[in-house]
Amino acid sequence: MTETSFIHRFEPATSAGSPPLLLLHGTGGDEDDLLGLGKMISPGSALLSPRGRVLEHGMPRFFRRLAEGVFDEDDVRRRALELGDFVADARQRYGIAAPVAVGFSNGANIAAALLLLKPDVLAGAILLRAMVPLSDPQKAELGGKPVLLLSGQADPIVPASNSARLATLLSQAGARVTHKVLPAGHQLSQADVALARDWIGSVTAKAA
Ligand code: MLT
Repeated sequence: MTETSFIHRFEPATSAGSPPLLLLHGTGGDEDDLLGLGKMISPGSALLSPRGRVLEHGMPRFFRRLAEGVFDEDDVRRRALELGDFVADARQRYGIAAPVAVGFSNGANIAAALLLLKPDVLAGAILLRAMVPLSDPQKAELGGKPVLLLSGQADPIVPASNSARLATLLSQAGARVTHKVLPAGHQLSQADVALARDWIGSVTAKAA
């Protein structure tokens, strides 16, 4: 049996028609970190926000890494499936539709892995400072799922070639990818919030 329980926060929707968000924090964050961001980019959405179950020197993450930017890929696979099971259980428990992931850094990387390994779990994704999570992923069928990838031009953790490769990988799997490179580093900027808000508005309008 897969252990699917994550410490998490759930905030119910306050307006119908806004997609539920799956909020995935960065290294050292927790389930409270992205609640404010979620409310800014999609006011009224239900928010499901788990805490990563891997600890690196006490800092929560969503999967193990061997060094910065070097991932334990067996663990990436296992943890992505665990997270997928958690989302399935949470959807039943809280009565929500498939969520749009909003992931930052390590959270964006597990969201990208989830898209590649279990595409049905997510309705789409906003990947903030994401990297390629798996060197040789299976062929995924993303069937037009919308993905917004926001990278930082001066990101010391994510090389430009890596985020470009992720955009290509997701597009080749059939996702509708919007990739923008912002004048920023690894940290988020106001431009991230504005672009994410506009993007989710346009995706929701199309789905309605
Ligand atoms: C990762 O480990 O997922 C990336 O290096 C980003 C981060 O520092 O969390």
